[in-house]
Amino acid sequence: MNQQILKDTIVQLFANGKGLLAMDESNGTCNKRFAEAGIPQTIEMRRQYRELIVTTPGLNESIGGAILYDETIRQQTKDGILMADVLEKAGIIPGIKVDMGAKPMACFPYEKITEGLDGLRERLAEYKQMGVRFAKWRAVIKICTHIPTSSCIQANTHALSRYAALCQEAGIVPIVEPEVLMAGNHTLQQCYDVTEEVLKALFYQLYQFRINLEGIILKPNMVIAGTENATLNNIDEVARATVNCLLASVPATVPAIAFLSGGQSPKDAAAHLNAINKNYKSHLPWIVSFSFARAIQQPALDLWKGQETNVEEAQKILYRRAKLVAAARLGDYDTGMEKSVHFI
Ligand code: 13P
Repeated sequence: MNQQILKDTIVQLFANGKGLLAMDESNGTCNKRFAEAGIPQTIEMRRQYRELIVTTPGLNESIGGAILYDETIRQQTKDGILMADVLEKAGIIPGIKVDMGAKPMACFPYEKITEGLDGLRERLAEYKQMGVRFAKWRAVIKICTHIPTSSCIQANTHALSRYAALCQEAGIVPIVEPEVLMAGNHTLQQCYDVTEEVLKALFYQLYQFRINLEGIILKPNMVIAGTENATLNNIDEVARATVNCLLASVPATVPAIAFLSGGQSPKDAAAHLNAINKNYKSHLPWIVSFSFARAIQQPALDLWKGQETNVEEAQKILYRRAKLVAAARLGDYDTGMEKSVHFI
């Protein structure tokens, strides 16, 4: 295995203050988002939407890599160009979601285990041929009474490590995503405790599986109170708790952390990422960037509504949202930019 390929890919993904765009919603999740926006849930509408994203002018100013779903990487634009080729031509590295989804964990009601290891070596080889240089696997951990169990944490971090090993063997950078879900009424402290436990278990497993930590990207949640918790999250408090939790759990040899947005509003996700980078820049041994889906895409999806006539405006909003998040990745964002016509 050529370790240098992994390092080079990571440097390129995050060069010049860039981050990642997650546009790898499974068909089920994409259809759910379409249904909420009143868009027909068809393969052709999903193709049109993904074309809107990958052809957005200037997206490469803030996005270094885009994570695709299997359906999308096999699709073409209306001009007959593969989506991955459009991205590559724009200098955006194509990546791929390779897990097969979080399924109910047998004997553990309320918890999930992510599947997809069978045949993964062969799938990675095929994706590599298609130009893919990084991959994603997402585990989900829910906080509620008596959960997460250590069995769920162990099983998911074990699977993440086996996935990471196969990726590195193939010369593909694994994004390792153990997502502690925001859904629930847990406090910020409970999120801190569970996130710390999960990350410590994860790095122990990665070590056991001989993963080269210099060749992974960690994609964690921010440390934040649950969506049903009445306490409002304070921006500086979220930033402080998140940084402390990561410093306690993530080895400094990991080159890059790219947060998921997890259902935070686009503005909240940008404000939190900004505070993390602005307030703690000199304490962070890693690049601290983003790999958002909803917090970059949602306003554009809402505006598009599946209408060809809205494509240009939706692309402008997508471009702008990505620029704002990229500013936050450098600690240069402020809420005044949200309305400023001078920003872009
Ligand atoms: P959100 O930013 O919408 O949480 O999605 C990120 C992601 O890729 C989840 O796997």
